[in-house]
Parts: sequence; C-alpha cells; structure tokens
Amino acid sequence: MRAAVLTEFGAPLVAADVRLDDPAPDEVLVRVVASGVCHSDLNVAVGNLPASPRPQILGHEVAGVVERVGSGVTAFAPGDHVVTCPSGFCGTCSWCMSGLLHLCTDKNRARPAGQPPRATLDGVPVAQFAGLGGFAEEVLVHERAVAAIPAEMPLDRASVLGCAVVTGMGSVLNTAQVRPGQTVAVIGCGGVGLNVLQAARFSGAATIVAVDRAAAKLDRAKLFGATHLVDAGSVDAVEAVREITGGGVDHAFEVVGRPETIEQAFAMLRIRGAATVVGVAKPADRVSIGALDLLSEKTLRGAQMGSSRFRLDVDLFARMYLDGRILLDELISRHIALDDVNDALQSMDDFTGARSVITVDA
Ligand code: APR
Ligand code: ZN
Ligand code: ZN
Repeated sequence: MRAAVLTEFGAPLVAADVRLDDPAPDEVLVRVVASGVCHSDLNVAVGNLPASPRPQILGHEVAGVVERVGSGVTAFAPGDHVVTCPSGFCGTCSWCMSGLLHLCTDKNRARPAGQPPRATLDGVPVAQFAGLGGFAEEVLVHERAVAAIPAEMPLDRASVLGCAVVTGMGSVLNTAQVRPGQTVAVIGCGGVGLNVLQAARFSGAATIVAVDRAAAKLDRAKLFGATHLVDAGSVDAVEAVREITGGGVDHAFEVVGRPETIEQAFAMLRIRGAATVVGVAKPADRVSIGALDLLSEKTLRGAQMGSSRFRLDVDLFARMYLDGRILLDELISRHIALDDVNDALQSMDDFTGARSVITVDA
C-alpha cells in the first residue's frame, strides 16, 4: 500500500510502497478514507522531536473503514466506520484503571518487542507515528487505538474528530471545565484552537477572546464562537485581553506550542485564573512565570489529548455534529491527495485555512 514516509528530518516525505503484516489477534486493519494534517505531524517532520524513529509514517487523524480484524477482536467487524486515536489505552495500568485513559503508560500501542514489525519498506521496519501512521492507504493498529463512529457520519468530517476536535474541545470540557458566565482567551486559532473556541461557546462562557497573529484565522474564530478578536501581530496580546475583560480571564488556553505564548496565557489570567497549555512545545523549551502571581491562586497546567476518554468523546462529538450542535465542515479548508501532503506540511505555518484533510481514493 502507498504511504508518505519520513526518512530524513526537514526533507519531504517519500512516497513509498509499504508492506503491512497480517493483523495480530488484537489488531485491526483499516482502509484510510480521510487523514487530517496536524501541526504535530509537522513537529516530527522538521525534527523538533529528534528522538522520533525513522523511517516513519506520519499522520494520526484517520477516519476509515475496517477491512480485517485479528482473531481476538470482538469490538469491531469488517465494514465498521472508525476513527483512530493517537493515545490508545492498555486498560490495565494505574492511569487506565483510574479512568484517565489519555495518560496510559503504554499509549502508542506498538507491537511488543520480539514480534515482527507491523510495517516494512523493502524489508526494513517502518515506525508508525503514535502507533498509527495515517498518511497512507491503510493502517494496521491496535484495537484499543480505534473508536467506532455512526455510519451516517461523513468520513472526511470524522477524521478531524481523532485529534483536533477531541484535543481542543476536550481541553475545555474535561481538563479546564469552563463554566457558564466565565471569561476565556484562546491563543492560536488553528485546527485545534477553533475547537477550544467552540467548546467555550458550548460551555456558556460569557466572553471569548480569540488571539492570533493571522487576520484570516481571526475571521474564522468569530464563526467558532469568539466574541472579541486580538491580532497578536499588531498589539500586545496580554494588555489587549486584560483591557477587554477588565483585568484578565478565568481561563486562558495556549494552542500554539511556544514558550512565549505559554507565558502570555499565564500573564493574562485574573485572580484564581487557570492557563491550560494545549500546544506541544519542543523538549528543550522552558517558560518563566511571575512567582508572586501564584499568591493570587493562579494555575498553570498542561493538557493531553483533551483529557479525553477517546471512545466516549469521539462518539459524543460525532453525534453533536450530526445534530447540528458543533461545527466540523468549516474546519476542513481543503481536501488534498496523499501525494500533496508535503505541500500541506511545508505551507502549514502560512496556511490561512483551518485543516487540510487527505482523502484517499477508494
Ligand atoms: N501568537 C498568536 N498566535 C500564533 C502565534 C503567536 N505568537 N504563533 C502562531 N500562532 C497561530 C497561527 O497563526 C495558527 O493559527 O497558532 C495557530 C496554530 O494553528 P495550526 O498551525 O493549525 O496548529 P494546530 O494543528 O491547531 O495545533 C496547535 O496544538 O496539538 C497541538 O501540536 C499541536 O502545538 C500544536 C498546537
Ligand atoms: Zn494532532
Ligand atoms: Zn494504560
């Protein structure tokens, strides 16, 4: 099957014919119909995570149709429509047993050491980003990295559920638990940030300030629930948010993944406010906060995958979309072919749209 393979950091992904093994008893083979291109894919591609193995198939926002299941799989059958999950769960570690499946200590759900690789290229093992490897025509994944979706859910719209929607909406609904009447600021209004915005609206936040440095991103932010817009390219974001909200916000969400925007998120809080960092920074990045600000009972915390229980949240958000209660159509700015993935990655930082989604020909 065809896949876009990372062989060298900073170089274009290479189109290659990758061989997938037969499903092990606990694995599912999925025909990829749609695959979103996320900023985390770019992070790996450019070498921001130097420990990432190569060759590797990137991509982790997959929607598709189950083709085959391993002998021990009972939750899925061929023909089922599914979404893949970048944080699968083992079901037995202490985090899983506590109901915090997104913190599972074995979340990538790779094959145990000593077993043949799932994917090979000319006999050489090929790693799968997040245990998935979605820039491909097929993915062979652990059954607990898969969530079912209703058959009536359009598969291109479903793909973004797998990361952007679960991460963005989950960080508001599960991690931060925004309440009606609160004030919210969102720094970074890309694919994930837009979902933070729409979840803040859904939560009943009274004031929702969108902060971005690209005008086109701010325009779209309005559609997703922003009540106020701040162009970080022309004004001081912290001052602007403090002025709009009369002293700072209850919740600031950082959805960029840079130290300076994390510091801004903390600096724009009101007393007892909480900054939730959704963006993924580089391993060596450090942030600095005013130590005395902690006396005002402010919180700086991380969020991973929207603290979600993936199978529940994917089903919930799919049904909310089908009921017309959340926006997904407007998240997908362009459909591209698998061969165009390099263009999508290279232009991501200047892209004025929301998400690019690869649609793989049937
Ligand atoms: N201030 C404000 N906005 C910024 C700044 C800045 N200094 N720098 C970048 N941005 C904006 C961009 O203009 C863009 O709209 O941040 C947004 C990032 O959006 P995307 O590139 O679409 O990234 P996305 O896929 O949403 O991921 C955002 O969340 O899950 C993580 O790894 C992911 O760290 C990444 C973050
Ligand atoms: Zn992602
Ligand atoms: Zn676990």
